[in-house]
Amino acid sequence: MTESQTPARSPVHEFDYIADPGLLADAHARYWDLKEAAPPVFWTSAHGGHWVCNSGAAVTRVLRHPEIFSSRILSIPPNPNQPKMIPEMLDPPEHRPYRQMLRPFFESKAIAPLEGRVTEWTEELLGAVIAAGECDFVASVASRLPVAVFMELFGFPMDRFDEFRGLVVSFFNARASADERNRLAQTILGHLAELFQARMAEPRDDMVSKIIASEIDGRKPDFDELMSIGFLMFLAGLDTVTNAMSFGMRHLAHDAALRQRAIDDPAVIPDMVEELLRRYAFVAAPRYIVQDTELEGAQLKAGDCILAPLPLVGWDEGLNPDPATVSVERQFYRHAAFGSGIHTCLGLHLARMELIVFYRIWFARIGHFRQIEKGDESCRGGSVMALEHLHLAWNA
Ligand code: HEM
Repeated sequence: MTESQTPARSPVHEFDYIADPGLLADAHARYWDLKEAAPPVFWTSAHGGHWVCNSGAAVTRVLRHPEIFSSRILSIPPNPNQPKMIPEMLDPPEHRPYRQMLRPFFESKAIAPLEGRVTEWTEELLGAVIAAGECDFVASVASRLPVAVFMELFGFPMDRFDEFRGLVVSFFNARASADERNRLAQTILGHLAELFQARMAEPRDDMVSKIIASEIDGRKPDFDELMSIGFLMFLAGLDTVTNAMSFGMRHLAHDAALRQRAIDDPAVIPDMVEELLRRYAFVAAPRYIVQDTELEGAQLKAGDCILAPLPLVGWDEGLNPDPATVSVERQFYRHAAFGSGIHTCLGLHLARMELIVFYRIWFARIGHFRQIEKGDESCRGGSVMALEHLHLAWNA
């Protein structure tokens, strides 16, 4: 659509959710300023024109009404070549049977047996950096642990860890071109196909074998569905845990009192994890509008796209008093870091367990730490925001 054809929408507030310079400098500070400065729902001309929710209430309404705000186009601008991801890109009623099929694999009782291995991986990763007294936390720890957990969970051979981690880091690199990312996606899909074929021929006691043997509405998933599910797990489970850890550790580097609490009383760590997720949620979920509707006074049209930045729910004063402050004394941690409604994160028990295990081991073995600025601490914008580097130092 050319500029002259762009439909009139109001209110307008210009904001580029991928490349806004303030966002790249500090994603959370920029979204916080936006919340204070712009209307609760606004239109921007960026990326072909789209709506942005700018209040917790607007985000919640979008997530809770899939009949109006569809997930079938999950990118802004719409990308017709985006590989389909099941179940995230399905609306009701198609979404439900896939979700039901996958749910048992992610319930807390299915995840609990992994804790021992997650502990071993964390010990090993931290063991490799402790003596140096400093590291780029994103490269050395945060981007490694979720890859190991994902490979183990899915049943990828662990002797390919370095190769696999290299692929993951390049795929999520903000500077990768679209062509490069498509090429990497094909390589990843190739690995997934190889794994699915191997387990179809010879099932094992791993998640992939169990998904292959499961049923959706009384039939087995076909190969394309398996690939869609596998690709979504890859996208959903790797970068997200990395970012939660990185944003959380950046906060802790500047919060000596909370670090001391975690060192003195590790029982506070689950609350700390929840509060850090609330304060530093990092997903901005895109949706495609399929019915004309009104949202916080704005007139939305079928065919428009809307961005729902999830941090805004946890920053809603009405849900969490004094939302800017990180406090483990709250009675409730009300947030939408894992989404809300039918697409609420399936991996949330796994993600929480990885984060809790990580912080316990970090505070037991390393304790206090500080951030060293090296000038490359920029953020990545987009629908999953990330910290590119985080240099931490401690007394080895
Ligand atoms: C801190 C880490 C994580 C965060 C913050 C997170 C966040 C989210 C969010 C916000 C959604 C909803 C997106 C939407 O509504 O469009 C989602 C969906 C999903 N997540 Fe996570 N996620 C995390 C970790 C994981 C992990 C470890 C896995 C599994 C390996 C996972 C698997 C999924 C799946 C399968 C969905 C789609 C659910 C559906 O559409 O029904 N996530 N996640």
